[in-house]
Amino acid sequence: MTPDVATLVDEMRRDEKLRLVRGRPDPDERATGYLPGVPRLDVPPLRLVDGPLGIRAEGERATAFPATLATAATFDPELAHTQGTALAREARAHGQHALLAPGVNVLRVPHCGRNFEYLSEDPVLASHHSRALVDGIQSEDVVATVKHYVANNQETHRTEVSAEVDERTLREVYLPPFRAAVEAGVGSVMTAYNRVNGVYMSDHDRLVGDVLKDEWGFGGYVVSDWYGLATTAGAANAGLDVEMPGVASGPEDAEFEWPDGIPDGSHAGLFGDPLATAIDEGAVPESRLDDMVTRVLAQMGRIGLLDDTERDGELDSQRHRDLARRIATRGTVLLDDDGVLPLSDDADVALLGPHVHEAKLGGGGSSETTPFHSVSPVDGLTERGEGTVTSARGIPEIESVSLFDLLPFVDAGHEDDATETPTTEPSLDDAVAAAEDADVAVVLVRDATTEARDRDTLSLPGRQDELVEAVAAANDRTVVVLRSGGPVETPWREAVAAVVEQWYPGQADGAALASVLYGDSDPGGRLPVTFAPEGTYPASDGRRFPGEDGEAHYDEGVFVGYRHFDASDAAPTYPFSHGHSYAEFVYRDAAVIDERTVEVTVENVAGRTGREVVQAYVRPPGGGGVDRPRRAFAGAAPVALAAGESATVRVLLDELAFSRYDGGWTVDTGEYDVEIGRSVADVRATVCVDR
Ligand code: BGC
Repeated sequence: MTPDVATLVDEMRRDEKLRLVRGRPDPDERATGYLPGVPRLDVPPLRLVDGPLGIRAEGERATAFPATLATAATFDPELAHTQGTALAREARAHGQHALLAPGVNVLRVPHCGRNFEYLSEDPVLASHHSRALVDGIQSEDVVATVKHYVANNQETHRTEVSAEVDERTLREVYLPPFRAAVEAGVGSVMTAYNRVNGVYMSDHDRLVGDVLKDEWGFGGYVVSDWYGLATTAGAANAGLDVEMPGVASGPEDAEFEWPDGIPDGSHAGLFGDPLATAIDEGAVPESRLDDMVTRVLAQMGRIGLLDDTERDGELDSQRHRDLARRIATRGTVLLDDDGVLPLSDDADVALLGPHVHEAKLGGGGSSETTPFHSVSPVDGLTERGEGTVTSARGIPEIESVSLFDLLPFVDAGHEDDATETPTTEPSLDDAVAAAEDADVAVVLVRDATTEARDRDTLSLPGRQDELVEAVAAANDRTVVVLRSGGPVETPWREAVAAVVEQWYPGQADGAALASVLYGDSDPGGRLPVTFAPEGTYPASDGRRFPGEDGEAHYDEGVFVGYRHFDASDAAPTYPFSHGHSYAEFVYRDAAVIDERTVEVTVENVAGRTGREVVQAYVRPPGGGGVDRPRRAFAGAAPVALAAGESATVRVLLDELAFSRYDGGWTVDTGEYDVEIGRSVADVRATVCVDR
């Protein structure tokens, strides 16, 4: 029988309670965070582990799923839910109880080094996937940890920058994916390192205490980001419940200068003796410690830790491998295609680029996962194609960057994703010659992003643009495959025959790529983020990003992503939610079912199976004197249709798309046009909803 949490708390001594709110090193050295438990009362330890792309238990392997951004690109919360269940089963298999995922910060800045770990520039799309991931993880009795609460939208100066953001913008854009997680019953929320309007998030009485806990009724525990606790009493009184990792690490030298973006590892132990002292001095009420402990124990009870009814795990199973591949395939976005794709089975292919022999697992930092096996692009295409597949690197490797490399004294033991390191020098001439001899040239290019650092530029690093241009000049059937953690510049796109965005596809890389290129799968992905020329995004001056004098001013307000491009003269390169299919769809009979539901009949008029993502956008009525985005994404429904097949698809309209925040939520009375179509820029029907 599960012991009663209140009784346990009553029986606990003060020192035992303190053990449950401050992290300690894991004796097994595998967990990312560890709470030692209370052996006298049979309360076992709680183990927390990174992260969003797969389990990063130290020294262990796990399924390397695609980047979270690729999951969002599927526009398919059900698939995200399934991914959540698999992540949780793998956490279990490694003896871990709480997963430090999902990351749900809204993509405000295209340069952000962690965009690959997040979901979207759109709060509704991010909320739908946030809810699904949390629900999936927790349905397997693992605690989900939604992070990083809130306004952690850049890595530059992340440990101290203050996001200067007004209430309406917070409510309409940055808070919704967290609120969705809370509505899904998330067990834990991780505070961000940064400040919001001058206050560190660990100490943010209003956002943690008032909004998250009181207003939204969050009943789980709030955990600090690693070394991200600003003060003892401030955090405890604001509502922070658990300090992580709890113990100092790094050089003892007080003069050591921590690189930008790296938290000060000597700043730890604030919830140890200092918390006891703060309680003795009356700076923190004793009842607060009881509340912290109650929240931790309640989650332990919920996942069966207190009565030994824990579930078994599952690691690297066939269904997890298949799932990693399915997400990678479905998340792949066909940005441009003049008809070169899909490839014919017997095409002779030149596969070109400095990393064609490696699966692109992810970006750098706490989300790095080491898989049991992976499929490189060369292996994937060689296995699938019936023609010849030749490869050439063309140019030198792109140096990968990792948070761990930024710390000279840390041996994080992370492994590169290289499966085979070529020994000869690459030659551009070889790549061009291979392109000339082949039916089709496929060029693989990548960016290099990591936690703790933002990109300096959206241009591809190294000589990759030069490689694409040289290959395109040699073969007019050139396909470029982007592997990026967010938008990149594509200056050569008019000169190539097709452009594909694969994000960071994870262990299934080459298999998923072959499946899309040869048309075994329709590219199911749509862009969760706008691709636009550098300098045209809303946060394009130093005051907004990376900020001035320690403050990043969110002056663009709610005009983030496509909401900005809708209101400006600047044209995106590839708009939000864009993505071609190999099939072709006709929309008809759009109708309003009720004020929250629309439907439309979609027919696949192509001679092949295809996957459509039917989308709906709400256009608010004018007037009222409030500057609102021209339209807001309200929901989507993916549907697979065989050649000639049609289906009537319903899209649920998220209330957030109708609402605006003005000291409280309001839905203005009036007529709302609801646009139904393939993307924000490809509307096929408009209906009207009265509110
Ligand atoms: C990151 C978190 C991560 C934690 C533990 C921090 O640097 O911001 O996302 O979960 O480290 O590795």
